[in-house]
Amino acid sequence: MLGDDAVARQMIASTLVQPSPDRPLVAVLGGGQLGRMLAEAGIPLGLRFHFLDPSADATARALGELTIGALDDLAAAETAARGAEVITYEWEGVPAATAQALAAIAPVRPGPRALDVSQDRLAEKEMFGRLGVGVAAFAAVDERADLMRALDAVGLPSILKTRRGGYDGKGQRVLRGDGDVDAAWDALGGVPLVLEALVPFRRELSVLAARGLDGTTRCWPLVENTHADGILRVSRAPAPALTGGLQAGGEEIARRVLEHLAYVGVLAVELFEHDSALLANELAPRVHNSGHWTIEGSETSQFEQHLRAVLGWPLGSTAMRGFAGMANCIGALPEPDAVLALEGAHLHDYEKAPRPGRKVGHVTVTGPTEPDRDHRLAAVLEIAGGS
Ligand SMILES: Nc1ncnc2c1ncn2[C@@H]1O[C@H](COP(=O)(O)OP(=O)(O)OP(=O)(O)O)[C@@H](O)[C@H]1O
Ligand SMILES: [Mg+2]
Repeated sequence: MLGDDAVARQMIASTLVQPSPDRPLVAVLGGGQLGRMLAEAGIPLGLRFHFLDPSADATARALGELTIGALDDLAAAETAARGAEVITYEWEGVPAATAQALAAIAPVRPGPRALDVSQDRLAEKEMFGRLGVGVAAFAAVDERADLMRALDAVGLPSILKTRRGGYDGKGQRVLRGDGDVDAAWDALGGVPLVLEALVPFRRELSVLAARGLDGTTRCWPLVENTHADGILRVSRAPAPALTGGLQAGGEEIARRVLEHLAYVGVLAVELFEHDSALLANELAPRVHNSGHWTIEGSETSQFEQHLRAVLGWPLGSTAMRGFAGMANCIGALPEPDAVLALEGAHLHDYEKAPRPGRKVGHVTVTGPTEPDRDHRLAAVLEIAGGS
């Protein structure tokens, strides 16, 4: 026989593991850390979650139901989506056929146009061009002969990328001299590619924005991002020295894309600041690593905002709470107590097995002033700089 306390504890545990079926269900395609943080934001709003992910270890499993299956496994996708109020995704690689099949069950937001464009770097650049948004010079490359023509048009240094499937700098080769061409072709040739001019940017920025079901849009302050080996390491928000109309320019880019795609949800556009102008690098039709700071640093986090948008709820304020910074933990997590001993530091452990180059967590710092933020971020980087 269980004592009264034990019964009460057991009931609390089962309530947490199995939230009431009356709560609106959000189906999320992908169960990585972005899905996990969506659920961390959505559970207090009264939502429950069902994830689809190929891995039984998907980190979002701790916060909702998990169906194990590939994203092109329609039966698995339909299981995850059954009973959902809305279907969303945390990975832009969702196959069009999956999105189409699920649209018969519940609205898929953001919609198929955002998926189509963001899955193909060429389509993405052409869209930016049509919207009057600057991009690096580029040319499509399908055959070896195209590469020589593209090099004539784009010049060196340049960067050869797979049109589909790249992330964290994977599927890319920088060409600095004629001697790099063969190796780049050997590594990447055989699938559709795009050659881009290497932009000697002053810095990388990103703009995060949301569009609600009623067409309302909200942007956060632009973020400054530092990458190493193609992986985001550090973000600062607001980006230092947002002078000369950079904020307005970034917001205008986001708005044009949101309107053009009739977008619903949170979107990020990665930008290069070059010669005091903004060039678009790529689009992420989802919550984004450079927006993780919003959990502590903004009135409404990107995760909560995305859920508000896709559910047709009012969007929240994107005002900052002071200044914020974020360091990714790459490969391994720092000692939690070392992080927590730092003023204004917040640790996020994704419960992922350590592995070189893998994002296993992040640390956000907030501070009342910009120097406070920078000082605190420097202290975090000393212990959580990553491998
Ligand atoms: N044309 C370019 N000029 C200069 N640097 C570039 C260019 N393209 C990419 N890079 C550098 O490589 C990084 C990764 O490139 P990109 O964003 O295209 O790839 P990705 O693999 O989709 O990355 P992620 O998924 O992490 O955003 C960029 O953030 C930038 O630092
Ligand atoms: Mg990128």
